[in-house]
Amino acid sequence: THSLKNRHFLKLLDFNADEITQLIDLALELKADKKSGHEKQRLLHKNIALIFEKTSTRTRCAFEVAAFDQGAQITYLGPSGSQIGHKETMKDTARVLGRMYDGIEYRGYGQEIVEELAQFAGVPVWNGLTDQFHPTQILADLMTMLEHSPGKALADIRFAYLGDARNNMGNSLLVGAAIMGMDIRLVAPTAFWPEEGLVNTCRVIAEKSGAKITLTDQVEDGVDGVDFLYTDVWVSMGEAEEAWQQRLSIMQPYQVNQKVVEATQNPQVKFMHCLPAFHNADTAIGQKIAQQFGLTGLEVTEEVFESSHSIVFDQAENRMHTIKAVMVATLAD
Ligand code: CP
Ligand code: NVA
Repeated sequence: THSLKNRHFLKLLDFNADEITQLIDLALELKADKKSGHEKQRLLHKNIALIFEKTSTRTRCAFEVAAFDQGAQITYLGPSGSQIGHKETMKDTARVLGRMYDGIEYRGYGQEIVEELAQFAGVPVWNGLTDQFHPTQILADLMTMLEHSPGKALADIRFAYLGDARNNMGNSLLVGAAIMGMDIRLVAPTAFWPEEGLVNTCRVIAEKSGAKITLTDQVEDGVDGVDFLYTDVWVSMGEAEEAWQQRLSIMQPYQVNQKVVEATQNPQVKFMHCLPAFHNADTAIGQKIAQQFGLTGLEVTEEVFESSHSIVFDQAENRMHTIKAVMVATLAD
């Protein structure tokens, strides 16, 4: 293993299979250390800025807890309250924060914004989600898949991602699977397949890694024999409200429900979701959708979400261990 010190973590395309494996292995080690009460603090006295131009529960909490566990301090800059986004450019913000902090997390809109932040900060920058990519989520997902596949390597794993395959999750899962040599099926309406350029890039990577990439709009074929079913919201943060209206009918055949679970022909199949999920009408937005469209579960039914197939909270926990690994690998001495 070679050092990842001072590297940015902006997208998985910047990393090779060995480096991704190294980060997952470190996360597994840090998780075991924490559970046994023997965690060593490797980020003592480091200062970390967390920029969130969009809301968050998991990612923010994962960065904060991981930093505290490792002895670092954090400053949280939320969607309002700083000069970011209205009064000061990212280039200037980057140079200011780079003078005070040892590392910077950024969640926001265009991938080019986090890339610009990284270009001018002079300290490691970590992508906490952009419109295009969500790389820390994928590390947690791959780690969770490994934990639920005893005796298997990532290259032995088959999974299907259903729904909006053109969003940050579809894009990043495709890249992660291509690099790690996995069998991935993107099961989505053709209008929601990832951009052709990204697919082509991933096909080139797959030729070397042995990954198998399938894009299909046929649910039954797509999910046949998979180890994991993965889905995400049909409308992402930053997208227009009208998108709901346009997408509900086109996305409905891709809902993960009991029929889809059975179509995998794998009684042990596991269900994954990066969360938050619309699986009932118990949230304000869930209620609004229920009233407007007469639907309760959207991308996943309550039945599957709450079933023994579901490993979504293992994923959520692993966000913390993997984010900790990213910070330790890029910052620790
Ligand atoms: N999965 C995820 O990134 O969740 P948050 O939006 O709550 O951070
Ligand atoms: N695609 C979702 C992921 C949330 C973690 C979004 O961007 O809103």
